Amino acid sequence: KKVIFSGMQPSGVITLGNYLGALKNWTNLQDEYNCLYCIVDMHAITVRQDPATLRKNARNLLMQYIAAGLDPEKNVIYYQSHVPAHAELAWILNCYTYMGELSRMTQFKEKSSKHAENINSGLFTYPTLMAADILLFQTDLVPVGVDQKQHLELARDIAARFNNLYSDTFKIPEPYISKVGAKIMSLQDPTKKMSKSDEDNNASISLIDDPDTIIRKFKRAVTDSDALVRFDQEAKPGISNLMTIYSAVTGMSMEAIQNEFEGKGYGDFKMRVGEAVVEELRPLHKRFEELSKDKAYIDGIIKKNAETANYLATKTLRKVQKKVGFPPVV
Ligand code: TYM
Repeated sequence: KKVIFSGMQPSGVITLGNYLGALKNWTNLQDEYNCLYCIVDMHAITVRQDPATLRKNARNLLMQYIAAGLDPEKNVIYYQSHVPAHAELAWILNCYTYMGELSRMTQFKEKSSKHAENINSGLFTYPTLMAADILLFQTDLVPVGVDQKQHLELARDIAARFNNLYSDTFKIPEPYISKVGAKIMSLQDPTKKMSKSDEDNNASISLIDDPDTIIRKFKRAVTDSDALVRFDQEAKPGISNLMTIYSAVTGMSMEAIQNEFEGKGYGDFKMRVGEAVVEELRPLHKRFEELSKDKAYIDGIIKKNAETANYLATKTLRKVQKKVGFPPVV
C-alpha cells in the first residue's frame, strides 16, 4: 500500500476550510492507503500560544480527526511532539536547505509581516520541519489544500538534493489536492483564504460552531449586488466561494447548483448553503461530544499511535544518520 501523510496545526479551532480542503478528503483514503495524520504542535509554537489553550486545541483536534471519520485503528493519528524523530530529522534537513529557499516561502513572508514582533528562527525553518514530517515515513502522497503546495515543492527539492548526495534515501512525495474545496475563502473578504487565525469571527466557520451560529455567518456572508448565482471567481468571488462550499458538501456540480437557484435570491441561496453545512457537520458534532466524555479511550489512542509512529519514524531516521556519517550507537 502507498503511504499518505498529512497534518494540521492546533493553533486554534479548525475551520470549514481545513475540513473541506483536507480532513474530509482524508476520510476517503483510509481503506486504500496506509495513512498517518499528525497534529503538528511543534509547528504551532512558531507563533505565540497560550500553553493551556494549545494543549486543549491539540486534544480537540485529535478528537475532531476521529469525529470526522478517521478510524484510529486504521490511521496513525498522533502528536508530532510525541515523536522526537521529527525534530531530529528536521535538524539534519536544515543543513541541506538554503536560506534563499526559505526566504522565498510566501507563508513565511505573510506570517512575518503579521507577527512582526516575533520573527523567530522556527518560523523561518518551519518548512524544513514540514519536510521532515513527510520524508520520515517514505510518504507517497500528501493531501493538503492549495496553500501548502509551495512547502511541498520545497520538501521534494530537499529530498532530491539529499538523494543525489547520498544515494536513494527518501521517497519523493507528491501533492494530492482535491478539485473542489482546496481553497475556501473568507466569508467576509472572499479574496482572502478562510483562516483559523482571522480576527473577524464572521469570516470563518469553526468546526465546533453551533447550527445557529453557522446559519447566521452564512446569512452575513459578503456577496455582490447582481443577484445571480453564477460561478465566476474573478467577478463574483463571494458567490463562487459559497457555490464551492455547497458543491463540496453536496457533491453537486456548479451547473446543477446554478439551476437549483435560477430565479431565486441570494437570501435563499445563503440559507441553503448554511443548512447544508449544518447537516454535514451534525454527525461530526455528535461524535465529538461523545469522544469528549471518553477520556480513557482517547488516552489509549494517543499512547498506542505514538508508539506506532515512533517505530515507523525511527527506520528512516537511522538510515539518514548513517548516511551523513553519525557514528553508530554502540
Ligand atoms: P494548516 O494547519 O494551516 O491547515 C491544515 C490543512 O487545511 C488546509 N487549509 C485549507 N484548505 C482549503 N481552504 C482553506 N481556506 C484552508 N486553510 C487551510 C491546508 O492546506 C492544510 O492541508 N503546514 C501545514 C501543516 C503541516 C503539514 C505537514 C501538512 C505540517 N506538517 C506535513 C502536510 C504534511 C499547515 O500549516 O496546515
